[in-house]
This record gives sequence, C-alpha cells and structure tokens, in this order.
Amino acid sequence: MCGIVGYIGPRQAPAVVMGGLKRLEYRGYDSAGIAVLSGDAIDIRRDVGKLGNLEALLAREPLAGQVGIGHTRWATHGAPSQRNAHPHLSMDGRVVLVHNGIVENFQSLRDELMAEGVAFRSETDTEVIVQLVERYMAGGLPLEEAARQTLRQLEGANAVVLMSVDQPDRLVCARVGNAGGIALGLGEGEMFIASDIPAILEYTRRIIFLESKQMAVVSADDTLVTDLDGRPARAELHTIAWDPVSAVKGEYKHFMQKEIFEQPRALIDTLGGRVNFETGCVELPEMKLTPELVARIDKLFIVACGTSYYAGLVGKYLIETLARLPVEVEYASEFRTYNPIINERTAVLTITQSGETADTLAAAEQARAQGATLWSIVNAIGSQSMRLSDGHIAMHAGPEIGVASTKAFTTSLADLYLLACALGTMRGTISPAQMRQLAADVAHLPALVGRALERDAEYQALAERFHRAHNFLFLGRGINYPIAMEGALKLKEISYIHAEGYPAGEMKHGPIALIDESMPVLAIVTKDALYDKMISQVQQARARGGVVIALATEGDEAIRSEADVVIYVPAAPPLLAPIVNVVPLQLLSYHIAVRRGADVDQPRNLAKSVTVE
Ligand code: AGP
Repeated sequence: MCGIVGYIGPRQAPAVVMGGLKRLEYRGYDSAGIAVLSGDAIDIRRDVGKLGNLEALLAREPLAGQVGIGHTRWATHGAPSQRNAHPHLSMDGRVVLVHNGIVENFQSLRDELMAEGVAFRSETDTEVIVQLVERYMAGGLPLEEAARQTLRQLEGANAVVLMSVDQPDRLVCARVGNAGGIALGLGEGEMFIASDIPAILEYTRRIIFLESKQMAVVSADDTLVTDLDGRPARAELHTIAWDPVSAVKGEYKHFMQKEIFEQPRALIDTLGGRVNFETGCVELPEMKLTPELVARIDKLFIVACGTSYYAGLVGKYLIETLARLPVEVEYASEFRTYNPIINERTAVLTITQSGETADTLAAAEQARAQGATLWSIVNAIGSQSMRLSDGHIAMHAGPEIGVASTKAFTTSLADLYLLACALGTMRGTISPAQMRQLAADVAHLPALVGRALERDAEYQALAERFHRAHNFLFLGRGINYPIAMEGALKLKEISYIHAEGYPAGEMKHGPIALIDESMPVLAIVTKDALYDKMISQVQQARARGGVVIALATEGDEAIRSEADVVIYVPAAPPLLAPIVNVVPLQLLSYHIAVRRGADVDQPRNLAKSVTVE
C-alpha cells in the first residue's frame, strides 16, 4: 500500500513530509519521492528502494520550501524504478502529484494524450492523471477544477494530492473509492495531508477524513471540502485521542473494520508489479519458478490452519482449473499425523499470515525433510515461513492486527490466482489469449471489492435482525464452498455464535435435519454454473422452515422470490468471485459481533498468531 504526505504552512516542508513518510514505514517501499515548491519551480527528489535511499539523496541534494508532497510506492503499473517513482510532474513542469490506487482505464487515456503530443516519462498509470490536469489548466481552469475534470475521467479507486506553481497557496487532494484514505490534519496556520494519521499526529489531533468522491482545497489557514461537482460536502472533524493504537485505527472503531476496508488497497498492493496488464504476463520473482522445476512437480500439497486453510481450499480450485496440477489441501495439524506421500516431485505450499504458526512451520519442516520443494504465501516479511521456503509470495496486505483474518485472506486468494496463472502458463495449460483475459479480469478486482464494501449499511441492518441467533448455517458450492466455511469461522470466532459452513449438496445427507425457523441459513447463490443447484438447496431449506439469506449477484431479481433476505454483490468472474463474496460475510460477522458487544479485535481464548502446537 502506498503512503502519501502533504504539508503547507510556515515550517520547512521536507522535514514534515519525510518525518511523515517514515511513520508510514511499515508499508515497505519499492521507491519514495518528495516535491516542494521553490519560487516559480517545483523541485523533486526520488529514489528507488527504501526511504533511507531518499534520505541519503536529500542529504546530498537538500530541498527547501514550505509547501510539499511526498510518497512511498508499491509498484502497480511500471516496475519499481527511479523514473516510475512518485511524485510525477506534468510536461510543462508546473503541476506535480502523488497517487494511491489504480487508474483502470489508463491505457486509453495514455493513448489519447500521446496522440496529443504528450511525451510520457514513466510506465505508470499515475502519470496520465497529472498530464490530464495540465491539459485542463492549459485551458484556463484553476487547479481544483482541472483536478475535478480529470477525476471524472478516471475509472477505478484512486486517491491523489496535487500541487502547482501557478497556485502556490494551496494543495488539492481527492479520493474516489477505497484505494486509500486521505486524512486532513488541521493545524494553527498550517495544514497536513496523509494517507494514514500516524504520519501527522505529532502536529495535530484535529483530523478530517475525506470520504469517497470528495475533494479538499487546502491552504495554510483553511480547508474546503467539496464533492466532485464542487458543492460543499460534509466534513466531520475528529479529535483523535493521543493513543498510538487508536491513532493507527484512524476513523475506524476496530482494527478488523479498518482491515476489511483496506482490502481494495491491499489487493492493489499484492497485485502490483506482478501482473503486466497489457501482455497478461504474471511475474512472481520470489517464487524462483523455472521451467525445469515446474516440469518436475507432479503434486502440490497446500497446508495451513484456520482461515489460511480455507484460502488453500480455494487455491485447489484455482490451480487444478488453470494449471491442471493435482492439489491436496490439508490442515497443518493433520498433515503431521500421517505419513503423506512426498518426494522430490512434490511441492508443499504453506499459507500463513503471521509466518510463525507452529503447526504450519512444523508441517513445512516435515515436508522439507521428505524432499519436497517448499513454497509459502505469507504476509509477515522476514518471518520463519518466508525464510524457510524455497520460493514465496508476499501478501503485501500490510500489518493485520485484528485476530480475525480478513485482508490476509483475500490477498492470499489473489496470490493463489496469480500462482495458478504462472503455473498454468509454464505448464502450457493456459494460452496467451486466456492469460490476457485472466489479467484483465483481475485488474478489476480491487474495484469490485470496493463496490461490495459500499453496501456496508445493508449488512449492518442484517446484523441488527440476526445478532441474537444461537446457530448459523453457511452454505456454498464449488469454489464458494470454502467461502461458506470462512464465513462461519468469522462469525463464530468474534461473536461466539455457533456457526457451521457446509457444502450445500451435502445438506440432504444429514445436516438438513438441523433446519428450522431458529436456524438462519446464509446461502451463496451468486451467478455461476452451480446457480440452479444452489436455488434447489435454498428451496429445500425454506421448505423446512429455515430462514434463508441469499448472497446474490447484482441484477438477479428472481432470487427475491426464493429467499427471505437477499444481499447483493457485484458480478465477478467465477475464479475471482470468492474474493468478492467473502466481503459481505466479513462485514456481517463484524456487525453482529459489535451488536453483541463482543471484543472484536481480541476475541476470548484466541491469539493472532498461534505459535504453540
Ligand atoms: C482466522 O480469522 C483466525 N485468526 C485463524 O484461523 C488464523 O487464520 C490461523 O490461526 C492461521 O494463522 P496464520 O495465517 O498466521 O498461519
């Protein structure tokens, strides 16, 4: 996830901006950069790699100025490099910006601007934004209006901060969708902007959080929040208690809530730099996949615990569908109870957010001892799982503090999708045309999850109706069966309601005896090849008095006559639907737990990382 900091006021901007970027350091860096207004010029320093490289550059070539913006980058479009580092400058050198998110239609905009003679300096999607702003300012519009015109042309979730030598008394920032927050820090005769408030809390605790489709024109003494049509918009002023924990939570009540809403940005970060959206090529350099290695592997075990195990179940569908490689998924704690058939043609993939789960580590060590190739999908950089593996994929989800895993789950699924694509390409089971389609599909994923999040109020209302339930059944089929299991786990681990996830087709072989009016049934009935079979399951449950909540695809009106309650998610390609479908289940569990007064971030008896067997 990218970090953004801006400042305007009497202090020296470089010190404020660099200090703020340092407090966002937990994100890691592909590159970092800073720009300040200096007289009638914009001075920029940028470097690839960690923030320390930029600090060293500034020590050699210092900057001075009282208005500045800075950025740390996770590469999405354009490899990590100095020329792709933010801030990005307009052609005429009079406007500069930093950006968080993905411009989904950047290629068509880039082609249009190049046809007008714009000479792009980078491969990033970001650069089309600043070149569009220049086009509108050249037509006589002030910075904020040029920014509005530009944002209306962008597809996808984006957050930007802009600065111009033509209007040195202001910064302009805006946010569309859930690609990253924009917090405004109100000082005395000075203003601060940041993607997360730890970057600015040492200066002020008076914070305004921009909502989606809002813009702010920020001068040293004032800030005007509007919608994208320029109309004044609601700007609630929060006074943040000086408590590092609440500071990091920002506008959210719980870390779990924050992490659920961070998922679009986390997905951008886990996809970033790994998918060439034009050629469809997937690059996973840390996996160290070679044609010889991939040709040798004839069996894959996926081994994990809890939520990560359910990610593995989805991974089986993805890898067997796309790469035609046999996959067996096993609980780490069970993997060690028998002598699995492992040899040098076997790969074992562990999935672990913490990278320190004792059962998972023990299974990995056993697999290594039996000659397997060891891979991992892991969030905690430098953790044991990452160090132990022959190849790994970092989730890039950012720190996950809430005990109930959310963004680590969805980024794991995205990484499994990428791994399935990479293995399928190397095994010759995916054609170049198919790969381009798979890449085009996943480019829309952050926006689809962002749209699912926008229905939060509906899930909150549902929680009001069902928070007193004593039992809950979650049903799914095919690739959505693991999502039913994950939904049940979320509910039971934070609300303490007994919940069970089940493959819908199995209900008639016993569990349907459980169903009566006191047993809410949540059925995943989104549009896919199993839709009609799921409708039949819903009818069977209702025939026995069950109260059915259907998770359905937007636009499906027929489902309304089949279920008691319908919650909608945007349509998604079947292989990516699990990532979108889990979001309502996360939010429903969250709101039920909050309504029951449960300790959402630290549920009883649980720990974030189970480092004991
Ligand atoms: C998930 O919400 C739980 N907190 C738990 O099941 C967790 O997924 C499991 O302990 C595995 O943790 P890991 O991903 O860090 O290995």
